[in-house]
Amino acid sequence: MQRPAKTDFPIHDLLRERWSPRAFDARLIEPAKVKSLLEAARWAASSYNEQPWAFIVGTKDQPAQYASVLECLIEFNQGWARSAPMLLLTVAHLQFEKNGQPNRHAYHDVGLAMGNLSAQATAEGLLLHQMAGILPDRAKQVFAIPDGWEAVTGVAIGYPGDPATLPDPLRERELAERTRKPAASFVFAGKWGTTLGLLSGK
Ligand SMILES: Cc1cc2nc3c(=O)[nH]c(=O)nc-3n(C[C@H](O)[C@H](O)[C@H](O)COP(=O)(O)O)c2cc1C
Repeated sequence: MQRPAKTDFPIHDLLRERWSPRAFDARLIEPAKVKSLLEAARWAASSYNEQPWAFIVGTKDQPAQYASVLECLIEFNQGWARSAPMLLLTVAHLQFEKNGQPNRHAYHDVGLAMGNLSAQATAEGLLLHQMAGILPDRAKQVFAIPDGWEAVTGVAIGYPGDPATLPDPLRERELAERTRKPAASFVFAGKWGTTLGLLSGK
């Protein structure tokens, strides 16, 4: 299924065609594509080139590894994410390697890496669904995540599936219109709250 963004201005197809499904096809992701997804994340920009990220992978052809990532999601997310052939946990390093000082852009940079991974996924015909609904403490314990590192999100990845496989409320959400706030409501110039002239027509 495709759910392209209805944009106010043209954007690249890789961005227009991205959306977050909850129904995934059972088809496994080809190993070469898995490598490309992770490589795309690796080449994200980061503050001081710190690369303050780690990814814990579970794929369905490795059932024990898959199950250990799945159990770190909250129950609601486990319900639908278990249809995805690949799960990830993203982990942020909250301190700089060289001096242990707090890295306040670590979450930002993990997000950038996921943006890269997301664009690569779309290019490969894959989609992903990111999740704040994880159990960071369980992840820390299950994977022995070191101090100073924190699980940030879960991510379900795969080829889009049939929404008819979802229970009622989720199926409706899968088919609902995708919406966004207008850019004019959050793009300012001059002072906070004053819309950039280009967008307000002034
Ligand atoms: C950081 C992050 C956390 C999210 N957490 C969840 C989640 O726990 N469960 C869920 O079903 N969707 C989650 N989502 C998906 C968002 O609800 C979804 O991206 C948003 O509704 C926009 O839809 P779209 O991605 O299809 O454009 C999350 C997305 C992001 C980026």
